[in-house]
Amino acid sequence: MRLVGAELVESREILPGQWLQAYHAPAIANGSRAGQFVHVRPGDWSGLVLRRPFSINTADAASGIITIHFRTVGRGTEWFTRLRPGDVIDMLGPLGRPFEVDRQSRHLLLIAGGLGMAGVRMLADEALRDARQVVLLFGAASARDVYPSNLLPDEVEYVVATDDGSMGHHGLVTALIPEYEAWADQAFACGPYRMLEALAKQAAGRRQRLGVAKLGRKKGGGKPVAIGSPEARRKAYLQVSMEQNMGCAVGACLGCVVMGVSGTPQRVCREGPVFAFDEVDWEKGWPPGMAS
Ligand SMILES: Cc1cc2nc3c(=O)[nH]c(=O)nc-3n(C[C@H](O)[C@H](O)[C@H](O)COP(=O)(O)OP(=O)(O)OC[C@H]3O[C@@H](n4cnc5c(N)ncnc54)[C@H](O)[C@@H]3O)c2cc1C
Ligand code: FES
Repeated sequence: MRLVGAELVESREILPGQWLQAYHAPAIANGSRAGQFVHVRPGDWSGLVLRRPFSINTADAASGIITIHFRTVGRGTEWFTRLRPGDVIDMLGPLGRPFEVDRQSRHLLLIAGGLGMAGVRMLADEALRDARQVVLLFGAASARDVYPSNLLPDEVEYVVATDDGSMGHHGLVTALIPEYEAWADQAFACGPYRMLEALAKQAAGRRQRLGVAKLGRKKGGGKPVAIGSPEARRKAYLQVSMEQNMGCAVGACLGCVVMGVSGTPQRVCREGPVFAFDEVDWEKGWPPGMAS
């Protein structure tokens, strides 16, 4: 984890209210992994005290550039849209635990709902670099919210679902899963809580549906593994990247917990943001007000 001055290189509105920003931050770009995030401080004069967390959308160690993709929802995110190339902001990262891909997995299914694209986008780059195949299922409310395909690598098979049917499949992105679940060795998701909960339920019944006990699973599958450990994620068919309001983002304030199946609260900033789907207690996992 590094605290750096990150220089804005490029900033553009890629969808209504959604921004893609590139920063020169070599110390963070070098060593970041898909699923991790940065914690960024708005400027002193803004009156905003807390840092804001953003997924690392892409990271390129060679150029030292990382990108973030965010939606303007309040004062902090609006402040970032007013930055201009050459401005330097205070950035802490990389933070949190990354997605874990089993070395034998060849077919990766990525599932993103809305801004959840930012949570899985970098995994597509990592997977293609390692000669894996990637299908990315993306759900949005309407065509106007659909992530532009030209911002994805050509090798990614990109499948869109919209709630109103204005582009791609008419309906929820979760309806697309049955077509791909036998193909996929592992699945990785980021998006609204309800979407992740639905995917976790689908994943729980996958073994019975496919009629295989250990599809894609390796030796040692019966050993207990610690919640939050890389092995727990690597063994899971589905990994989810969770969001939670954050204070410190370094594990100290306990402001970001979700409930684990063991009854132990899990800090999204330290044990997460990536969890194996069966590590989260989906009934109790979310504080009131966030379950939408
Ligand atoms: C690990 C992590 C990664 C994230 N990655 C991204 C990303 O890549 N792109 C992106 O657009 N957003 C991301 N978020 C959410 C983002 O941090 C918030 O939208 C942002 O902090 C809001 O700041 P604000 O000052 O504009 O809004 P505020 O004025 O602080 O809040 C405005 C509204 O947004 C809600 N909100 C604030 N923080 C969160 C949060 N963490 N999750 C859900 N709702 C929130 C508030 O409840 C309020 O309703 C991520 C959050 C986490 C925890
Ligand atoms: S934000 Fe402080 S413990 Fe996670």
